[in-house]
Amino acid sequence: MAKTASTIDWRDERYVVPDRPAIPFFPGDGIGPEVMAATLPVLDAAVQRAYGGTRAIDWFEVPAAGRAVAAGLDLLPARTLDTIRDHRIAIKGPTMTPVGSGHRSINVALRQALDLYANVRPVRYFPGVTAPVVNPAALDVVIFRENTEDVYAGIEYANGSDHARHLAGLLRDWGARIPDDAGLGIKVISRLKSRRLVRAAVRHALDKGIRRVTLVHKGNIMKATEGAFAAWGYEVVRQEFAGRAVPAGDLPHGTPPPDDVVVVDDRIADAMFQDLLLAPQRFGVLATTNLNGDYLSDAAAAQVGGLGVAPGANLGDGVAVFEPTHGTAPDIAGQGLANPGSMILTGALMLEVMGWTEAGTRVMDAFAATLRDGRMTRDLAAGRPGITVLTTGEFGQAVARRIG
Ligand code: NAI
Repeated sequence: MAKTASTIDWRDERYVVPDRPAIPFFPGDGIGPEVMAATLPVLDAAVQRAYGGTRAIDWFEVPAAGRAVAAGLDLLPARTLDTIRDHRIAIKGPTMTPVGSGHRSINVALRQALDLYANVRPVRYFPGVTAPVVNPAALDVVIFRENTEDVYAGIEYANGSDHARHLAGLLRDWGARIPDDAGLGIKVISRLKSRRLVRAAVRHALDKGIRRVTLVHKGNIMKATEGAFAAWGYEVVRQEFAGRAVPAGDLPHGTPPPDDVVVVDDRIADAMFQDLLLAPQRFGVLATTNLNGDYLSDAAAAQVGGLGVAPGANLGDGVAVFEPTHGTAPDIAGQGLANPGSMILTGALMLEVMGWTEAGTRVMDAFAATLRDGRMTRDLAAGRPGITVLTTGEFGQAVARRIG
């Protein structure tokens, strides 16, 4: 694509964003159009306030999901993919994965085609939200989950299949004991992909002044995959971040690290779930493999009151797709009941990654202020007294009005 004044660039591991970037979006399915419609004006208001009209986003919708199919196009047309790749930053609503129709999930297709290897989910508490723990505000973490490999790579053979029989035979030749009736799945964890995920997590910590990165793994049991993930993580810290980040084990005993250095340590995954509940204040960035990260990010979100208040991003090198953490919620679609919070916070995260931090912070603050005012959608209100229950659109307007 020819570079124009509206094209976002990527140089020295950073986005270079013009004052008027063109950003593609698609609302997705179910509640997607409602939460997207509530969100874009909030982001525009924040950008306007933060930069006094010198910056603005030119949103343009690209065909994808249900709307594309209704227009006779593919679920994820090749041109849409090219447009996102060219524009580098895009934002989407949740998309339905048709069951058994032969369509791949849009999310999987995007992730694979654009190599969006880091799923990033910041999780923090917003006062006013009901949470299941006594001190939800103690949790404030950013989870970096490897997005492309592990047992999620789709290398699976059903029990009784020729492939399963063949593979089991090979493994038995190597001494493995495998029952005849077993299905088999392969866990793939590579050095390159572990290193780039940990690299991205450490960079984020350095950028944000977060002092601790914890590698979460199950390496005590799965040494060649999970254990290797942690070892490769430490390797990249030593090789590429000397003087800026240090493995906790490399610090001389009893010596506190210098103030501006990120300390990298690790935790066995099951202990991590306990620690998040018992000592959440100790953690900053968590970097982990795909399956651990899937469980951990939903558990962390639940701890602060649910997926409605957690944003999401899928980051590659020089391309990023932002999306809320919930699905299409077909049970409430079209009724104005959806909470656009995750989508709004996802937009704030996008602004941050663009380097438009002043605008991103304004969105977060306005969202927090709206909840503090006791103004929220039905799912968060949960029948509590003194709460003003708003529709999806009303909540978006309330947040936009609160932009400072
Ligand atoms: P879901 O997240 O859509 O819904 C689970 C429950 O949470 C439902 O009761 C729903 O009403 C509620 N809920 C979800 N988002 C909400 C919101 N913003 N405000 C208020 N309530 C909300 O998960 P489910 O039912 O498992 O999946 C439905 C569809 O969404 C499936 O086709 C699935 O593949 C897709 N999905 C897409 C995702 C994505 O595009 N990133 C992520 C997860 C699911």
